[in-house]
Amino acid sequence: MELLYTVNPGIEDIASEEIRAELGGVTSFENMSGHVYHVVDNVSFEAIYRLRSINRAFILLFKSRIGSRTNDLIKLREELFSSLETIHYYITPYTSFAVDTERLGSHEYTSMDISRIVGEIIIKKVEEKTGIKPVVNLRTPHIIVHVFVKDENFFLGVSLTGSRSLHRRGYRIYDHPAALKPTLAYAMLTLSGTRDKQVIVDPMCGGGTIPIEAALLHEEAYIYGYDRNPRHIRGAKLNAYASGVYGKVVFGVWDARRLHEIFDEQVDHIVSNPPYGIRYGDPVAIRKLYRDFLDSTYKSLKPGGRLTIITTEYNYVLNKANYIGFRVVHKRTVQHGGLYPKIVVLEK
Ligand SMILES: C[S@@+](CC[C@H](N)C(=O)[O-])C[C@H]1O[C@@H](n2cnc3c(N)ncnc32)[C@H](O)[C@@H]1O
Repeated sequence: MELLYTVNPGIEDIASEEIRAELGGVTSFENMSGHVYHVVDNVSFEAIYRLRSINRAFILLFKSRIGSRTNDLIKLREELFSSLETIHYYITPYTSFAVDTERLGSHEYTSMDISRIVGEIIIKKVEEKTGIKPVVNLRTPHIIVHVFVKDENFFLGVSLTGSRSLHRRGYRIYDHPAALKPTLAYAMLTLSGTRDKQVIVDPMCGGGTIPIEAALLHEEAYIYGYDRNPRHIRGAKLNAYASGVYGKVVFGVWDARRLHEIFDEQVDHIVSNPPYGIRYGDPVAIRKLYRDFLDSTYKSLKPGGRLTIITTEYNYVLNKANYIGFRVVHKRTVQHGGLYPKIVVLEK
């Protein structure tokens, strides 16, 4: 069985590792920007729904090479028509569908051209097999047909997760205005190397995404989430309750710049998503916040403890971290909310 997953750009390797560890088989993601390809003998769909790093999962029905000229679409049309023999198992006359095409590279045709051709062929094939045409519903389809074209590689898959992205966890009762995607929270915890029995703190936890993901990952960790805004802490508690980890995270109202007054060299991992300067407005104030925050985290961490943050202020953080005495263990760029912040892992 061949599967295709969409993931947050920048964490393909982490998703690939999770998929292989949880489901077995062989994965690849090189040159697949935002996608992971997976070949496995057999897989339970429940196990796919439990993955914490992916957005959507698709059964791959067609994989081919495609040229970049408009004329190459004629060959594509023929290939699709002879290959999509089982499409009616997934898209029936009673399920609506939409084709969503992501195209990267230089081609004479557009994503819309591809979506139109794939949509036409699917309607023809389902009608040929069942006698009835399926319904297209672009807004709330039962099934998404995802097409990914990267240079000359063409993939077509049918969604196993409906039209819902798994990064939208069911627990988001309280929607923080600058919430982190849970898939990125998972990636940060993984990059930090959090484990059971460790002390894990998010001192600017907002709606609680990072502590909640930590509690879902680690049964026996000691997890704390703070924010200086009581409204967010009330929201974080609601979210923790909805996710089933209420009681596994200690939440409180506190200023992140005074974290060391609670924890004196006691924390294994501080994993956090501080405000981004671009949203904060005042560049002097944000630097002061970051400076005091970094100072306080250094004092709170055990020797060898790690601070993992996602930030657009990475140049400032890296300079300041170096000055304080942190060692830079890892850094990478990810995509988040139309911005390209870095995840930076620092070790005391
Ligand atoms: C980007 S948001 C975090 C969002 C969170 N990761 C989520 O998914 O909901 C940053 C948070 O930092 C909090 N914050 C800003 N300055 C703070 C400070 N000095 N101490 C504690 N929290 C602070 C804000 O109230 C805000 O909730």
